[in-house]
Amino acid sequence: MSIFTIIKFYKSVMQQLRRNRRLRTNEAIRSLVREHTITPNDFLVPLFVVEGKGIKEEIMSMPGYYRYSLDLLVKEVKELWSLGVKSVLLFVKVPDNLKDNKGTEALNPDGLMQRAIKTVKEASPEMLVMTDVALDPFSSYGHDGIVENGYIVNDQTCDVLAQMSLSHAQAGADFVAPSDMMDGRVLAIRELLEKENYKNTGIMSYSAKYASAFYGPFRDALDSAPGFGDKKTYQMDFANRDEAIKETLIDIEEGADIVMVKPGLCYLDLVRDVRDAVDVPVAVYQVSGEYAMLKAAAEKGWLDHDAVMLEQIMAFKRAGAHIIASYFAKDVIKLLS
Ligand code: PBG
Repeated sequence: MSIFTIIKFYKSVMQQLRRNRRLRTNEAIRSLVREHTITPNDFLVPLFVVEGKGIKEEIMSMPGYYRYSLDLLVKEVKELWSLGVKSVLLFVKVPDNLKDNKGTEALNPDGLMQRAIKTVKEASPEMLVMTDVALDPFSSYGHDGIVENGYIVNDQTCDVLAQMSLSHAQAGADFVAPSDMMDGRVLAIRELLEKENYKNTGIMSYSAKYASAFYGPFRDALDSAPGFGDKKTYQMDFANRDEAIKETLIDIEEGADIVMVKPGLCYLDLVRDVRDAVDVPVAVYQVSGEYAMLKAAAEKGWLDHDAVMLEQIMAFKRAGAHIIASYFAKDVIKLLS
């Protein structure tokens, strides 16, 4: 027996019982040693915008979540700001007659997205405005890119996404958020923004975005479900883990300022992997299907809505997310204040 083995044995015998429960005795000590907290600064709030006036319509598969016309968007944005929310992520529902294969309407300087950006900036000038950049809400096929012979073509799509990003920047967006998973889109966007002197417009890239069935309710919200096939030729295979790091590192090389993992709860392993692998802020998107699941279970009385909601949001913080895009943001902030 070596001296080290003897010391180890002696130590194990002499060691006092570690009473870890001391640190859980009451709320005061638990708060003192709590490792993570939730604040309004953690949230990026997705907002759905529609044409019209006086419209605040509930999304069927997202109870308690609404599409707003621009006039009522003003009210919502002001309320968010007063609650301490400082960033929003805009999505638009485009009328069918304006959709085509190339997403032409996405480039319209007076399009709904461009007007929505201006509306938010007027309502709340300091609010950070991010915009979703992908063709699906504008595409007659409901795909994130241009379709040729049933295939979503990559490079032409990147050109349109760059134009779209420029148009959002010109309307006043602070960040563009490409959510399409084409190869090289971050580079295409960064280059065009630089060239046109939008040097301070940021890119939050949906860098590890999986082909997920959890996006169902979102596609109801925007009427943007793919008309044929699925998104598996561009969004990632949910069986893959290492690939998330590859995608994310490439996006950072191409110029992404913030990277994102999406969906959220089923992908917390990737939030941690990405957080450990990169030196830029990491966002996570708790998507529409995650929201719908909890709402449905709570409606049935099977889960305690608020308690489960907080537990889930905290899980994102614990996993390492700096930014949480969530439809629960307002509920969480109200609950905590
Ligand atoms: C558009 C986009 C989608 C989501 C965000 N941006 C849908 C999709 O990729 O099919 C999903 C968000 C959610 O489900 O909450 N490309």
